[in-house]
Amino acid sequence: MDQKQAVRELAEVGCIVEKNALPQIREEHVNHIKDLSPPPMIVNERLVSNLSQRIRDGEQETAGTAEDVVAAAAQEAGGRPETVETSVEVQTDINTEKEKRTVGDFVDYYNDRYERISQILRQRRAMQGAISLSHVEDMSADEEASVIGIVQDKYKTNSGKFIVYIEDPTGSTKLLVGEEDGEHIVEDEVIGANGTLGDDIVFCDEVIWPDLPLPQNISSTDEKVYAAFISDIHYGSIDTLNDTIDTFVSWLNSETEFTARIKYLFIVGDVVEGVGIYPGQQEELKLENLYDQYDQFIDMIKAIRDDIEIIITSGNHDMVRLAEPQPPIPEDYVEELYDRDNVHFVPNPCWVNVHGHDNGGVDVLMYHGYSFDGHVSGLQHLRDSAYENPDHAMIDFLKRRHLAPIYGSTLIVPDETDHHVIDRIPDIFCMGHTHSFANTTYKGVNVICAGTFQGQTDFQRRVGHMPDPGKVAVVDLSTRESSVKEFYHEDGEDRDSNGEVDSHE
Ligand SMILES: [Fe+2]
Ligand SMILES: [Fe+2]
Repeated sequence: MDQKQAVRELAEVGCIVEKNALPQIREEHVNHIKDLSPPPMIVNERLVSNLSQRIRDGEQETAGTAEDVVAAAAQEAGGRPETVETSVEVQTDINTEKEKRTVGDFVDYYNDRYERISQILRQRRAMQGAISLSHVEDMSADEEASVIGIVQDKYKTNSGKFIVYIEDPTGSTKLLVGEEDGEHIVEDEVIGANGTLGDDIVFCDEVIWPDLPLPQNISSTDEKVYAAFISDIHYGSIDTLNDTIDTFVSWLNSETEFTARIKYLFIVGDVVEGVGIYPGQQEELKLENLYDQYDQFIDMIKAIRDDIEIIITSGNHDMVRLAEPQPPIPEDYVEELYDRDNVHFVPNPCWVNVHGHDNGGVDVLMYHGYSFDGHVSGLQHLRDSAYENPDHAMIDFLKRRHLAPIYGSTLIVPDETDHHVIDRIPDIFCMGHTHSFANTTYKGVNVICAGTFQGQTDFQRRVGHMPDPGKVAVVDLSTRESSVKEFYHEDGEDRDSNGEVDSHE
């Protein structure tokens, strides 16, 4: 295997190969790296020599995990950090002043979605000659055309193929699309299509989703600092695992060589159970007063060592409007925390850059994930194992470059900006809401569905959803490798603060 082929094969699974690793890399390394789950973001000299050692030692039969290999490779770079400067830049600002919305706001909102996603599509080689839909009727039948539009509607024909209606600001047309692509298309998303013109129709050869490009480089910090991700604590619920969250906080404060490096904690919404969220919720409440629920959350945050920057977004159980973009949790409920320099309440969804003073830092896209349920219910390939593999829907969002492509999958306040468009490439995309856990990568992006600290609720028991509580993903921002820590025992016993168990996804 030549070096080019090695780089190409590893790029396909989202790995960037550092130049100094190239002379050493052989086919067996490539195969071994491809078997790692999740694959490492960066393949460097140290990782390759560590793999060579393993192969020499005869460990190649068991692929292991990326964390094993990388942790061993990183051992020599260990050591307790000195005082570390931190920085947090919240990059999303939402308009909460405007109270009334008009039809014009919806038009602006959809135009913004179309403009930003169509620009991404135009960067795809297959879409560079895309024409406005108003030009379609000027062209003659049998001509080849590339078009981009927002999906208005689709229906399945008797042949199994789909008719898909699309529009752009200049006009509309319809597409005839094959069965597989047709099943994947959702209403209100922006897609591209290549095909041949017929009479008032485009016969599609291929449908193009904006997707992420293959990564050219991986953003990382020079300093070895870590970010941890948690979500859905639901303080106030009878099912909240208070002991488990306390164990996590004690572990965070233990300042071992590992935990001392954690300088950022992301909390992805639903910090309290809330009140009046669904009919009959009262039966499930341990604390019926919202302020009491938030007081528990305040106590938890105050207990965390103050050199950790804590970034908190809102969820559908928090006391903000349900319609997205959601404002940050208001000061009224968490007043004491607004006074703390290391605590940041941010909108949902939100872009946050952390450690930006060091090599540009890392860009994190936070989204609680309320659109998840509505999105997967219309897509069979996601629906069947949606809660076992929440990362599949998250990657689907990345491919469509939108966090809630189907209008109605979540409530929306239309604005001149569609805040759900993913027009930048995040380094880390984190979500919560599903109460399931996932930690993987997709084209150079860490994809983390942060777990919950709430046990199985009565509602989840009835619908057969088994949550996956007490798992915390930690990302090393200097390598973008991730590890998973578990704080919950099936038998209900919590681990002591030094006895956390590493697990690997
Ligand atoms: Fe939740
Ligand atoms: Fe939620």
